[in-house]
Amino acid sequence: MTSAASASAASEQPVARIRASARLRGELRLPGDKSVSHRALMLAALADGESRITGAGDGADVRSTAAIVAALGATVDRVESDGPTVGYRIVSGGADALRAPADGLLDCGNSGTTLRLMSGLLAGLPLTVVLDGDDSLRGRPVARIIEPLRSMGAALHAREHDSLPPLTVVGRTPLRAIDYTTPVPSAQVKSAVLLAGLRAEGRTTVREAVATRDHTERMLRARGVPVERADAPDGAVAWTVGGGLTVQAIAERVPGDVSAAAFWLVAGAIHPDAELVLRDVGVNPTRRAVIDILRSMGADIEERPVGGADDGVGEPIADFVVRSSNLRAVELGPADVAAAIDEIPVLCLAAAAATGTTVIRGAGELRHKESDRIAGTAAGLRALGARVEVDGDDIRILGGGILDGAETDSLDDHRLAMTFAIAGLVATGVTTIGRPASAAISYPGFFDDLERVRA
Ligand code: S3P
Repeated sequence: MTSAASASAASEQPVARIRASARLRGELRLPGDKSVSHRALMLAALADGESRITGAGDGADVRSTAAIVAALGATVDRVESDGPTVGYRIVSGGADALRAPADGLLDCGNSGTTLRLMSGLLAGLPLTVVLDGDDSLRGRPVARIIEPLRSMGAALHAREHDSLPPLTVVGRTPLRAIDYTTPVPSAQVKSAVLLAGLRAEGRTTVREAVATRDHTERMLRARGVPVERADAPDGAVAWTVGGGLTVQAIAERVPGDVSAAAFWLVAGAIHPDAELVLRDVGVNPTRRAVIDILRSMGADIEERPVGGADDGVGEPIADFVVRSSNLRAVELGPADVAAAIDEIPVLCLAAAAATGTTVIRGAGELRHKESDRIAGTAAGLRALGARVEVDGDDIRILGGGILDGAETDSLDDHRLAMTFAIAGLVATGVTTIGRPASAAISYPGFFDDLERVRA
């Protein structure tokens, strides 16, 4: 499942060609937030009763999660489609009613979030499953999941000395509660342990040195599961959940994906004649770093909070207007990288268009995404004439030069495909993007929206 039905003709070609646009204008609604959509589907599987989700993302990754929830025995109906989003009605008998499919195989496609969060969800159930996916997913680390879930009592095995998928999960009921410090900043690891903690005897605590996205915690609370938060003065956060608690079935509206909005925020800021309006964007404090970083670079971004639109699940929403800006370089450290982990490639493009030298330190986690995003971003931006230096896990971008259209390769990574397409809107000549269909992993209508705003 690589391209959703609405993918434009451009994205279905092996190569997309983008020319600079004289102006960028228009109003966009983004796909539903991918992180929230995954969690809404998974928590619906754990809840006994009927859950409703509106505004979900309809990219291939969220579809992978929906298919797995159905394979585990819940009824999953797509009920309505509204522009770039989809609605779901899920009926489940709760965690104890979930069953492994006959062949035991669960296909996570390209989605690391599906694989890691599902591992935690399944670790406390009496079933054996194999979580697998495409070639990219088979290259992504799973030791970070295996270690805590094993210490809770589940058995997990993976290829290459338990480091790479496929990942076999042999669940155990009940699990043992643990007090765990994540070795790398990762909301996926944190969420997997908290979801397993729901099936543990006692209280499970996850500690993280820097705050990562907190959707799982907010969404559990909205479903009647108390999740305690403790903040240390140095920025570390500890989250605690009790075992044996019931997840309630609720109706939830998913906000627009700020990680998708990021492409248009950068497009508007770096283009010389732009004014773009973005509607209903999720601005959870643990996700909005990209907005604040762009503003600190001088981006003209107006934010209009949308009152009362969070549907009670605590995900704040805002509309944005972004206009042509003169960007300045910025210095980012490891906490910024963790807070804007999925937006670093497009922020590198913003840095290439800014005056001065941008330094991004401690970006090593980017090597473990759908592609090696440090290498992929550097290669694409260098092809376009940007000066990018990589030193270990640090990236330096010497901004201010003109971008010249060239051949780039998405490496089948959605965020790289969209970053280079946005670059094409400002570069001279023609920019080609290899394997553009990968955009549909998170943003099936991306190339349609691109045509819309240049029209
Ligand atoms: C996600 C967490 C991040 C992010 C991914 C989605 C999530 O991964 O890169 O796109 O929904 O929890 P890590 O937690 O592994 O950094």
